[in-house]
Amino acid sequence: MFAQESWVFLLLAAWFILIPASGTRYQANWESLDARPLPTWYDEAKFGIFVHWGVFSVPGFESEWFWWHWKGQNPPDQKCVQYMLDNYPPGFSYPDFAPQFHAQFFDPDDWADIFEASGAKYVVLTAKHHEGFTTWPSSYSWNWNSVDTGPHRDLVGDLAEAVRNRSLHYGLYNSLYEWFNPLYLADKKNNFTTQDFVLKKLLPELYDMVLSYKPELIWSDGDWEAPDTYWNSTEFLAWLYNDSPVKDVIVTNDRWGAGCYCKHGGYYNCADKYTPGELPKHKWEKCQSVDTQSWGYRRTMRLSELMDLPSIIQDLVQTVAMGGNYLLNVGPTPDGMIPPVFEERLRGIGAWLEVNGEAIYSSKPWRIQTENATVPVWYTSNSKYSSVYAVFMTKPTVYTFHLSEPVTAESTTVTLLGNPEPLRWAPLHPRGLILLLPELPQTPAQAWILKLDGVK
Ligand SMILES: *[C@@H]1O[C@H](CO)[C@@H](O)[C@H](O)[C@H]1NC(C)=O
Ligand SMILES: *[C@@H]1O[C@H](CO)[C@@H](O)[C@H](O)[C@H]1NC(C)=O
Ligand SMILES: *[C@@H]1O[C@H](CO)[C@@H](O)[C@H](O)[C@H]1NC(C)=O
Ligand SMILES: *[C@@H]1O[C@H](CO)[C@@H](O)[C@H](O)[C@H]1NC(C)=O
Repeated sequence: MFAQESWVFLLLAAWFILIPASGTRYQANWESLDARPLPTWYDEAKFGIFVHWGVFSVPGFESEWFWWHWKGQNPPDQKCVQYMLDNYPPGFSYPDFAPQFHAQFFDPDDWADIFEASGAKYVVLTAKHHEGFTTWPSSYSWNWNSVDTGPHRDLVGDLAEAVRNRSLHYGLYNSLYEWFNPLYLADKKNNFTTQDFVLKKLLPELYDMVLSYKPELIWSDGDWEAPDTYWNSTEFLAWLYNDSPVKDVIVTNDRWGAGCYCKHGGYYNCADKYTPGELPKHKWEKCQSVDTQSWGYRRTMRLSELMDLPSIIQDLVQTVAMGGNYLLNVGPTPDGMIPPVFEERLRGIGAWLEVNGEAIYSSKPWRIQTENATVPVWYTSNSKYSSVYAVFMTKPTVYTFHLSEPVTAESTTVTLLGNPEPLRWAPLHPRGLILLLPELPQTPAQAWILKLDGVK
């Protein structure tokens, strides 16, 4: 008996002595949280798929902001008002759309197959958009979640399984604010001097979401009306980084309160579709939508409003050359289909990455991001292959291609990715080279990559 107790005592003593050695504890302030290194998987991944899916997919009209445009903003958007007058009985409210969110064709394995084929390494699904509807059975969102109503299915959990089965990382989008939540509106009325919404709804739900699904990325949004102190963002992040089950892998963005974006958090999103003019000093991500008019599904979308494959590839390349990740969005239909036109784009990206991926995945920005001696060229580099890559998206009209930045040596070799033959080249002085292009292969992506080995 005595011996056992002293064992327990010794173990406890050892535990307390060892704790400080087990790693940094982050404090609930930005200085401490901002110093956390980003888990390495994120920068290596480079390309992810964003999925906006919720009750807003049912009207599928204008955008995922439909409810706000119809009932929130002042004056309301007349197109939304007229659409409802023309097509729905008087008194039909936004929550009445929820039972029509059937997701009856939702096959998570189908989706995950498409995402994997796109070459993406992570997937981010809306767990809750500004409408407040959770696509998982949140007990803090009674009758306004995808198990109580609509699909009667745990969409977040079902997709998690399929995505992880393909070794893709899984992230969840979560809106801090909810347009019409009475608790939120009351706090807002009090100029955010009260925190009823945060303490009774937002935080318990967020902790529950992390514990239930163990996301590797939290894409926070809807933060801008109130300061981070109202949202208790730093306290939540300190828990996430210190004590949550995902503390070693979790990646977050920068939308944690008014004034935070581009300044605090994990990686930076800055504004939607942010495109920096020069190399940012901090890891960042560009989010972009195939449908340029909306993140959510839109029944009125036209082909001319969608990004085509070459423009997506160009955006991806420029983002990666500038040190960013590219998160490309698709909006599934309320019955659970990814529109084939989106699928086509995604498979096209994957086919291009199949040949050209070594210039993208795990790459680093090169010392120069872009030049334009022959046609516009974007550079990346990959230390694993000690290579520099020059990506071009315009077919030159001549076979001699001049690059003005790389400094060559005698041992330098140049190849076109996808073509095993080394290319003939000659140095230029004081720097640069001129090379002889082969016949460029036809590629729907319209982007080709020169691989330069042994250049500086
Ligand atoms: C994916 O599922 C298959 C079939 O159930 C299983 O054999 C495989 O190990 C899973 N892969 C991963 C990475 O979980
Ligand atoms: C909130 O702020 C506004 C403007 O500063 C002020 O007029 C109002 O009285 C404040 N309301 C509360 C409940 O503090
Ligand atoms: C919220 O933050 C306050 C301090 O700003 C703290 O006292 C409180 O414990 C926090 N609550 C949660 C649930 O994080
Ligand atoms: C590249 O150079 C060409 C010809 O000098 C010019 O027309 C084009 O606008 C330039 N493009 C960029 C992106 O600078």
